[in-house]
Amino acid sequence: MSVEKLLKNRVSIRAFLDKSIPEGTLENIFFNAQLSPSNCNVQPWQICVVSGESQEALKAQFMQTLMSGGKPNPDFNWLPKYEGLHRERQFGSANALYSSIGVAREDKKARQMAMVRNWQFFDAPYAVFFTMDKYLDIMGAVDLGIYAQTLSLLLTEQGIGSCMQGALGQFPDPVRKILKLPDDRGILFGMSFGYADENAAINETKTDRATLDSAVAFFN
Ligand SMILES: Cc1cc2nc3c(=O)[nH]c(=O)nc-3n(C[C@H](O)[C@H](O)[C@H](O)COP(=O)(O)O)c2cc1C
Repeated sequence: MSVEKLLKNRVSIRAFLDKSIPEGTLENIFFNAQLSPSNCNVQPWQICVVSGESQEALKAQFMQTLMSGGKPNPDFNWLPKYEGLHRERQFGSANALYSSIGVAREDKKARQMAMVRNWQFFDAPYAVFFTMDKYLDIMGAVDLGIYAQTLSLLLTEQGIGSCMQGALGQFPDPVRKILKLPDDRGILFGMSFGYADENAAINETKTDRATLDSAVAFFN
């Protein structure tokens, strides 16, 4: 599949089938994702792929944290308050998501419940945590973002759906605890993935993009 086709096919998937990915396919995807470029080729990504018991344990720990009123404490500066046009686009994507599942804007409870699905990995059978040494900060974040997009396109090529999730970096302590990661390891964000449930309304969410001339300037 051409890169253009992959880009057009990839959309965020938030409902999955309970279906395993063949081990060889999974390994090959992550093998190829290693080809991602990084600043000075430092390859700062430390990728944790979770499924089965470790994923269940994480889900339970996230739920416990949420139920006990735990507040997000991301390792990195990930509590942006978007402004102006960015804020409008943020609302636009939230509205697209909630209207696909028939949740009204004023129905705060239903929106919160939909948000909680993030920490249940949308019932995806696999998830990834994109982690790196904390000291790397923005230098590493750039590289991890590039890695994540590479991964999402490799998954798309294999007919596997995914959703990147800043939400998965909001409660890093349970992740470090359950995956036995050192204290100096930061959890930047994550991604749930698996075969898409083609019948799920939430997977019909459509987002748009700004026009070329509002995003790109060509200088001669
Ligand atoms: C870095 C990053 C973090 C994201 N975090 C979340 C998230 O926590 N939960 C979620 O449902 N979607 C999340 N998304 C998905 C975006 O909402 C989605 O990519 C955007 O609305 C465009 O839609 P599309 O992916 O279908 O093209 C995230 C995407 C990116 C790139």
